[in-house]
Amino acid sequence: MSTIQRIGVVGCGTMGSGIAHVCALAGVDVRVAAASPESLARGRARLTGSLDKALGKGRITDRDHENALARVSYTSDLADLADRQLVIESISEDESAKRELFARLDRVLQDPEAVLASNTSSLSVLRLARATADVGRVIGVHFFNPAPALPLVELVPTLLTHEKTAVRVEEFLTDVLGKRVIRSPDRAGFTVNALLVPYLLAAVRMVESGHASAETVDDAMTLGCSHPMGPLRLADLIGLDVVASIAEALHEEFREPHYAPPPFLRRLVEAGLLGRKTGRGFYDYA
Ligand code: CAA
Repeated sequence: MSTIQRIGVVGCGTMGSGIAHVCALAGVDVRVAAASPESLARGRARLTGSLDKALGKGRITDRDHENALARVSYTSDLADLADRQLVIESISEDESAKRELFARLDRVLQDPEAVLASNTSSLSVLRLARATADVGRVIGVHFFNPAPALPLVELVPTLLTHEKTAVRVEEFLTDVLGKRVIRSPDRAGFTVNALLVPYLLAAVRMVESGHASAETVDDAMTLGCSHPMGPLRLADLIGLDVVASIAEALHEEFREPHYAPPPFLRRLVEAGLLGRKTGRGFYDYA
């Protein structure tokens, strides 16, 4: 039986709202925090929309929907997270913003056993942990997009995470959320992105070099290998800025050329064509 019943989610973008959705449906008391009332309002609309969609598609019942909504509260004041037993940070991938947030959360949480987790996909969890006074209670919990649909969570203990922290969070993820957990080392890309991102970059290079169109590359992998999505549609779903930042992190850490973000990917990011979230990337979503 998990000892975690009250969680906080900081940041309510695609991943934060997906994580809050999963937790609220699993019966957990969820408090969502965002930096400003405006971003909180957008996050609330995103989370409500995600639960509405699950209801509309018949994945959850009216009762699940109503109970899940009732379990979520919202705040733009971090002090309101004081009673949380686990806080999952899911703000944008900005190391100094995350470090500042971790330092503040470390002071706000009343329970010395409370766990501070990051959903980062491209930063070192240890560097975030070093912003706190108790590095042993900091851990990475890496969900996949869309979080309600994908069963896996990577659990990323740092060299300094207490084993009791890892065990407590692992029990919560498996017993309460019903996720499948793998432990990954705190190295760039963890396990999934160290495999996935070079593949996505290879697909970008095929388009960039004129080897094949985006549609042909995607058909190759959906029809030839039975992947649920081709790599370029998947890159658009993940967000091209996120793919580029994971590639940068992998390249910085390992210096292998196949990790370097191709120029075409950088240009798309510079143009603000980030994929589904902005309405255009390799494909048009307008
Ligand atoms: N609960 C809630 N929503 C769900 C769901 C569930 N159980 N299952 C699917 N959905 C959502 C889908 O996201 C999709 O949303 P949109 O309408 O916004 O497109 C919608 O419901 C339609 O889903 P369908 O039932 O038609 O499902 P599908 O068969 O088309 O599958 C998919 C959709 C689940 C996204 C599937 O294509 C898939 O698994 N794709 C691969 C996704 C993937 O690889 N994600 C990992 C990315 S890597 C990452 O996230 C980590 C990182 O650090 C970058």
